[in-house]
Amino acid sequence: MTDVNLTERFEMANAFVKDAAVVALEALASRPKDWTPSFKGPQDYVTATDMAVEKLFRERVAATFGDDVMGEEAGGENNSTCWVIDPIDGTANFARGIPHFCISIAYRVNFQTELGLIYDIVHDELYAARRGEGATLNGKPIATTTLADLGAATVEVGWSPRVPVEQYLAAVGQVLQAGANVKRTGSAALCLAYLAAGRIDGYFEASVFPWDVLAGTLIVEEAGGLVSYDPAVDTALRNSPIMATAPKLAAAMRQALSSTKE
Ligand code: IPD
Repeated sequence: MTDVNLTERFEMANAFVKDAAVVALEALASRPKDWTPSFKGPQDYVTATDMAVEKLFRERVAATFGDDVMGEEAGGENNSTCWVIDPIDGTANFARGIPHFCISIAYRVNFQTELGLIYDIVHDELYAARRGEGATLNGKPIATTTLADLGAATVEVGWSPRVPVEQYLAAVGQVLQAGANVKRTGSAALCLAYLAAGRIDGYFEASVFPWDVLAGTLIVEEAGGLVSYDPAVDTALRNSPIMATAPKLAAAMRQALSSTKE
């Protein structure tokens, strides 16, 4: 893989997210008043826009590089070198008209993510990273916080119906007991983007898929943060836990999440 190829792919993805945003914003604006939710499973939303954006991306890739694509909606082979897209991450927010969702795109080579882009469409915030070149928000460098005290931290604990209620509540309790402010805003990719930009200090979720976190993992690492994420998801495509933090908080977060109730 030459640098030139990565540059061309990065430029294509940058242009794509802006084009796809038009589709998503139009759908948001024309959201019917008598809306009823569509689910893939319990509390697992899907919208026509998720499908439409992923289809557009597949068409764009087919017309340019002809690479493999793995996406949340249409699946695809879990190849070592491919694009990985979550066409709308934060679908539950999008479906309800809550302006906190994004497009998340990663490009990986031999199971190593080389490019990551997360576009917060409504706020026109594009988080991006190329391996080894730092992370940016709308072209300006970003960095995680350097906070060392979990008691002063803001941490997101993500939830999905894949996680048993008791397990989720236990994780929230552990992080609260450690003194952190716990949030849940409904987009794994934006959790990672916010962590990279220093807006939050940590993120934990017991079950995520590669399309939720691959782009964000690179962006956080390039912003100086630490991510522990089971690489087995890359080869076996099964959901795995993720913990991501500002660099000085990893040990405290790990300890908090492994603590048991007295
Ligand atoms: C979900 C969101 C949510 C996270 C879930 C994801 P989707 O992705 O990122 O915040 O907690 O684990 O599945 O369905 O909105 O693309």
